Amino acid sequence: MPLSPKQKPSSQNYERFSQALEEQKQQHLYRELVHSEKKVLFSSNDYLGLSQHPKVVSAAIEALKQWGFGSGSARTLSTHLPVYLALEKALAHTLQKEKALLFSSGYQLNSTLLKTLAKDDTLFFLDKYCHRSLIEGAQNSPGKVFRFKHNDPNHLEELLKKHRHEGKEAWIVTESLFSMQGTRGSLEAIAKLKREYETFLIVDEAHTIGIERSTSDADLVVGGFGKALGGFGGFVAGAELLIDYILNFSPGFLFTTALPPAIVVALHEAIQLLPHLDNQRNALKNNTLLIRNLLNLPDGDHIVPYPVKSAEEALFLSKRLRELGFEVPAIRPPTVPPNGSLLRFSMTALHTESEIEKVSRALKESMS
Ligand SMILES: Cc1ncc(COP(=O)(O)O)c(C=O)c1O
Repeated sequence: MPLSPKQKPSSQNYERFSQALEEQKQQHLYRELVHSEKKVLFSSNDYLGLSQHPKVVSAAIEALKQWGFGSGSARTLSTHLPVYLALEKALAHTLQKEKALLFSSGYQLNSTLLKTLAKDDTLFFLDKYCHRSLIEGAQNSPGKVFRFKHNDPNHLEELLKKHRHEGKEAWIVTESLFSMQGTRGSLEAIAKLKREYETFLIVDEAHTIGIERSTSDADLVVGGFGKALGGFGGFVAGAELLIDYILNFSPGFLFTTALPPAIVVALHEAIQLLPHLDNQRNALKNNTLLIRNLLNLPDGDHIVPYPVKSAEEALFLSKRLRELGFEVPAIRPPTVPPNGSLLRFSMTALHTESEIEKVSRALKESMS
């Protein structure tokens, strides 16, 4: 039966949505998609330039010809292609874990993983700046969630002292390199607490895989292929038993179409290239050093946050830089905490010295 005029959606019914968008605009938090052709990107996490590596690209093309476009079904229903297991084996080897499992994206993995692992008496201790996907995963789980101050093992210990006895099992969750602030997880101190308080540990290595060795103390390493591996998809690696458990119980794995085979084959090629990419890793290091020097920022990693006063200033500077030919994203709440707005320079091995000098000059001129 057709909807009566009363039931039909009208602009009136959409008012709440337009109001919310209007508020976003007023607070300088509105997001829109832009077309960035011909801009120099400081917004890409393709840290080693692998998305454009000729061997990776031709592996994808050959795989497309051999296996076709889509995978056609979920992994549990589609056991005929050898490429998935081959990538998982190579990945487990790279991460020095017994086994690895592919997911369609890091977000999909993280937002379902903690729920998959938890029971009512499970505790989660997450760094305050953990990626949204991990936080959602914890909040959607039956476990009890505690958030410790960013990179503050003392606060984590305080929470463990107070609450560890409340759960049979506890997981600490952190990241090797935080995606927006570019800060390092205090992994050594956390590993010590893990032993002292008998917890498990999950480390999200989305922003360091391919660039440095993995964290040996983690029970589970999670991450995505969309950064230094230049592709797409997510992964979890750990003891065979845990991976088997996740395979059997994770809705984010079971109820979704497997990654396209061409992506999987290209990722395998990228993983095999990793030991031979010292030149790219050195270029990334030098480019990071250069921009940090030019912008008077302290030493640090390839995620280079440039703090600004407000979301409005971040947006203004990002737009100005875009007009000048550079894509440098304005990172605003809720991606960062209130008052934590910043410009995020994502450095890659492919940036040239001249591009880095030009963007630094453009930023300084835009601020004066
Ligand atoms: C730390 C971290 N974890 C997980 C994700 C999600 O990964 P994906 O882009 O594969 O969904 C991201 C990506 O933004 C991230 O920065």
